Amino acid sequence: MKITVIGSGYVGLVTGICLAKTGHEIICVDKDQRKISNLQENIIPIFEPGLSDLLQETVANKKISFSCDLSQACQESDVFFIAVGTPQDEDGSADLSYVLAAAKEIALNSKNSKLIITKSTVPAQTGEKIQNLLRQVRPDLKFDVASNPEFLREGSAISDFMNPDRIVVGVENEKVKNIFREIYQFFPSEKLVFTDIITAELIKYAANSFLATKITFINQMATMCETVGGNIKDLAHAMGMDERIGNKFLNPGPGFGGSCFPKDVLALQQTAKENNLKLPVIDAVLSANQQRQEHLAKKIEQLLGANISEKKIALLGLAFKGNTDDVRYSPAIKIAKLLLPKVQKIFAHDFAAIENSRKEFKDFSNIEFCSDLYQACNQADFILVATEWKEYAAIDLKKINVKKIYDLRNLFDAKTMAELGFEYYHIGQKF
Ligand code: UGA
Repeated sequence: MKITVIGSGYVGLVTGICLAKTGHEIICVDKDQRKISNLQENIIPIFEPGLSDLLQETVANKKISFSCDLSQACQESDVFFIAVGTPQDEDGSADLSYVLAAAKEIALNSKNSKLIITKSTVPAQTGEKIQNLLRQVRPDLKFDVASNPEFLREGSAISDFMNPDRIVVGVENEKVKNIFREIYQFFPSEKLVFTDIITAELIKYAANSFLATKITFINQMATMCETVGGNIKDLAHAMGMDERIGNKFLNPGPGFGGSCFPKDVLALQQTAKENNLKLPVIDAVLSANQQRQEHLAKKIEQLLGANISEKKIALLGLAFKGNTDDVRYSPAIKIAKLLLPKVQKIFAHDFAAIENSRKEFKDFSNIEFCSDLYQACNQADFILVATEWKEYAAIDLKKINVKKIYDLRNLFDAKTMAELGFEYYHIGQKF
């Protein structure tokens, strides 16, 4: 099947390249000429492990091409995934202008009816909005609209796409269901979950908001342990053994960040407000997550002790999580910004996110970026682990002279750290 994917950002590229891997012929369309020229040269604009190799393979197999020409794509294919950005408006709602513009352009350039699928995260009732727009622009054609939200995590997007827990598809009729069966024929058919369009749109927000709630909940239990005592690792482990709860997304830390959870939970809150609804759980998740970094910054100050203005911190991690260069809503960056006005200096390390962090700190002169983590650590008085890069857990601790560590991701084993002579603090510990 020949499929067009509009938008060559994170979601569009992973979707396009993975669908090409499953045997379809994919045209990736983007308005950004430079991005398209780079992609034609196999240069990927995002950091995602494995994606570059998969691109080369699908290009070599002639399964994927890149273009700025949507009208040409409209001559060649009948199925369109819209994977453009839905940035956050000032009030927190999702800005649909790029999605609607893409749908309109397909309609204007089409000679026959098409299937238009939203892959981008869009609020409930977007499908209806697209359908209304299409009717206005091309009353002579009957388009099909569907919703097929993505559940990809940055850093493991290819394996998430290739081994999905489920493939959610919101459709209006049997004909479109069959097209999806063909699109996803590479996957076990029981993975396909068909719903109506609004439900599919809501599933995406419900899933992300539930995961954000789970993280917020375990962070609150960590605060509880910090106050009354108890071991958060054992607590999370035992909670997770209950199959009704499950052991995933129960790692306490500095709060959730990234381009999805903060934006999607806020957008769900906004959809509720627009419909005169109150969702107190969602409100609490947002405010608790915002307070999380302030709470931890105070604890860090407590550990730094007297003469804080003379203290130097080695910050391990800038990305919002490990295995990515993405710093959007990164808790590590928020905490660093709270500390920078108070401490003498921060030596910041990350395996991939230093370049993206620079602009975040343009107003601060007392931060230095270090590509060598041992160099960052050994110039400081105190080490702060802020991002869950697996590589941090494997560092050669014997090479580190600074003995005071606050681990906001609970990467290290407290007993081993004590044996190695570290003054080791972690999330959920009473001090
Ligand atoms: C998230 C979802 O996991 C994906 O299913 C979804 O497709 C994606 O959003 C999206 O909507 O596009 P992502 O933002 O890449 O994926 O990152 P996650 O791995 O979910 O982590 C989000 C945040 O939660 C990170 O800051 C992470 O450090 C934090 N987290 C995660 C915890 O603090 N504890 C955990 O146990 C898990």
